[in-house]
Amino acid sequence: GEVKQLHRTAYHFQPPQHWINDPNGPMYFNGLYHLFYQYNPKGSVWGNIVWAHSISKDLINWEALPHAIFPSKPFDVNGTWSGSVTILPGNRPVILYTGLDNDKRQIQNYAVPANVSDPYLREWLKPDDNPLVLPGSDMNASQFRDPTTAWWHGGHWRMLVGGKRKHRGMAWLYRSNDFKHWVKAKHALHSASKTGMWECPDFFPVSLHGKNGLDTSKVGEDVKHVFKVSLDETRYEYYTVGKYDPEGDIYLPDNTSVDGRDGLRLDYGNFYASKTFFDPSKNRRILWGWANESDTADDDTAKGWAGIQAIPREVWLSPDGKQVLQWPVAELETLRGQKVDLKSIQNMIPGKLVEVKGITAAQADVDVTFSLASLDKAEEFDPNWEKLDAESVCALKRSHVQGGVGPFGLATLASQNLEEFTPVFFRVFKTKDNKHKVLMCSDAKGSTLRPFDIKQYRPSFAGYVDVDLAAEKKISLRSLIDHSVVESFAAGGKTCILSRVYPTLAVNDAAHLFVFNNGTEPVSVQTLSAWSMSPPKLMNQNLNF
Ligand code: FRU
Repeated sequence: GEVKQLHRTAYHFQPPQHWINDPNGPMYFNGLYHLFYQYNPKGSVWGNIVWAHSISKDLINWEALPHAIFPSKPFDVNGTWSGSVTILPGNRPVILYTGLDNDKRQIQNYAVPANVSDPYLREWLKPDDNPLVLPGSDMNASQFRDPTTAWWHGGHWRMLVGGKRKHRGMAWLYRSNDFKHWVKAKHALHSASKTGMWECPDFFPVSLHGKNGLDTSKVGEDVKHVFKVSLDETRYEYYTVGKYDPEGDIYLPDNTSVDGRDGLRLDYGNFYASKTFFDPSKNRRILWGWANESDTADDDTAKGWAGIQAIPREVWLSPDGKQVLQWPVAELETLRGQKVDLKSIQNMIPGKLVEVKGITAAQADVDVTFSLASLDKAEEFDPNWEKLDAESVCALKRSHVQGGVGPFGLATLASQNLEEFTPVFFRVFKTKDNKHKVLMCSDAKGSTLRPFDIKQYRPSFAGYVDVDLAAEKKISLRSLIDHSVVESFAAGGKTCILSRVYPTLAVNDAAHLFVFNNGTEPVSVQTLSAWSMSPPKLMNQNLNF
């Protein structure tokens, strides 16, 4: 019915019903993109997990296929959990996934296409020589999962499996020369104390020169490596940029990256269990991540669905080498319809709101560049806030709190009179040593008039943006708005925040979009383009797999 569909997304990936979580085994193979994902065929809470399967020519329009992997063998009777694809020489894809066996041990299995000449790779076989890898007797068998795409160097494949030893997050390293017999290396590729379990590790090379993606096995002087984990305790993803020496299998994060909860984040919002793959057809590396609901399990049962995949993002190393940049894949732009351009809006004064009219504001793509005449009025950054995370600072300084330079940004999914809205905005601070800190927030606190339930999650998501605003005097923001998701990219993809929100008034045609400034320093909109977004074509959605 109408109510159930109110917050369904239009152009984010989601099946017609039920629960989804992690993207699994994304790949490009023989002209098609494959996306597998953790799926509960029986309901809209986590459980009964299978690998659901969809294919696409463009990462936007999808066709659903029968489930690729589901519990059926002694080595996966109790679960078919997350994993990855590696394409072996001779163009032979192999899935590595975590199975839960009769003893609920987490073990690593493989699956191969039943018929490699089926263009859709509909059916997958799990040979009887599984499992490939068992946890060692000294390892925690309930914290040992999510194998990565393997890479090849010097006569051996390598793969990582996420784990935990005491409180230490582990990226266990395994080697094999035939992809069948895997031996644990003496040292883990990487680990860090007091982080909890490392779920869904990902390890990939990035070019020092430009945006092009690289095959997962690429090593050499002209690349760095990115190592990413998902921390189940914070539900966020952290990464380091570093140097990988394939001879000794040593990964050393740069001193500009730190491990653990103070580390760089792929997304400062609701984005988890992500995974990249190399797309040789367009020479790019693509990142898929899962965005959970932030309402309650009861809400999800009433809706009949839970979870979406974020828009796939191209990912590459920033020119300064300190972080990655992310940007929605260009194919998304094929969904852009009706377009509105706001000609420059000069000097918005505090409290100023300008509506962006003429698009479907509940289902839109908006790209805006703000310019600032001066940073002189930037608020002081309280040194005590150094101890807080960005989210806590945003919670103290929400969009209604007038500042010096900012808050300025977009009011997305807004009701006409702003009874509810999700602001995505910047606030500029001056530190004691006269530097500027740029805070990006995506604040869900005022996103809905629904009474707050303790089981819901309405965070003031935030991250800092590493830009020299004093020099550049402008900052861009792109937001993908899709009914219950606002997915935002600041400064060309330096800081990203995805948030799930459930407005009651700002739905469908009653949703509005505004630009605002609430700082004493006037802010100008240099350019603003916004598009209504059309829904993609989805095939076989009504098959009851
Ligand atoms: C991450 C995760 C993985 C696991 C899968 C189970 O969200 O917990 O570690 O393989 O989900 O569905």
